[in-house]
Amino acid sequence: MKTTTTAGDKGAATLRVWDPMIRIFHWSLVVAFAVAYLTAEELDTVHEVAGYVVAGLVAFRLVWGLVGGKYARFRQFLTGPSKALAYVSDMVRGTERRYLGHNPAGAAMIVALLLALSGTAFTGWLLEDTSRVAMLPQMPQIVSPAFADEDGVAETLREGDGGAIKDVHEVLANLMLFLIAVHVGGVILASVRHHENLARAMVTGDKRAAGPDDVV
Ligand code: HEM
Ligand code: HEM
Repeated sequence: MKTTTTAGDKGAATLRVWDPMIRIFHWSLVVAFAVAYLTAEELDTVHEVAGYVVAGLVAFRLVWGLVGGKYARFRQFLTGPSKALAYVSDMVRGTERRYLGHNPAGAAMIVALLLALSGTAFTGWLLEDTSRVAMLPQMPQIVSPAFADEDGVAETLREGDGGAIKDVHEVLANLMLFLIAVHVGGVILASVRHHENLARAMVTGDKRAAGPDDVV
């Protein structure tokens, strides 16, 4: 019989890994990102609101990484690039260990997703009002007057309808599509390898309890 229990309770069939806030965060992010992507250049207001929701969710996640449940905390899963690469090479050889929380490759993907999402939302915010773009080159002057805008960076950024910022916004949004494809591919691969449905675990919060070879 399947028993659901909380983290730390040994001998149970399943364990609560993802706290409710992480699950709500995840699926809200999926919806908000999809709405922002699909309404780009079609429904400006909806696009901008969805983009701000993405930004708000990312900001929430940064805080939750410090104060959230055990497996939500950055300290629990963040590792250096060498560990992530070693894990990927274990995956290629089919010898990677099962992690109850995020594995090192998944952790690197989370960093990439959060960075790309922040960049997309920030460049979107800049695009919305050209005076924000105009302010950008002044930032270094405010921080350090030695870096004045002698090369006319402001002009380049403002060029055309949004200019370079619009290109960066679009490239980041499309980079997100690539990252999501790899992310979902990784989730499917790990689900097959470790005989568990990770997408369902992100809905219920529960995963099979750790075996002797698993990383808790
Ligand atoms: C339907 C497609 C998706 C599925 C099935 C899915 C599934 C999952 C699963 C199972 C995890 C946990 C990974 C692990 O076990 O380590 C996860 C984490 C994550 N996913 Fe997705 N995902 C999907 C789409 C997306 C999209 C579109 C985004 C971004 C816009 C995204 C962003 C994230 C983030 C940021 C995390 C880290 C969760 C945390 O905060 O701890 N996912 N996803
Ligand atoms: C974070 C999620 C977001 C995604 C995935 C996203 C995606 C996109 C994409 C794919 C385009 C089309 C780019 C092109 O073809 O040149 C676009 C354009 C644009 N986005 Fe976003 N965006 C996001 C957030 C935002 C935010 C927060 C704002 C502003 C508050 C914003 C404002 C704009 C504007 C003004 C354009 C140009 C639209 C036009 O020329 O009609 N975006 N966005």
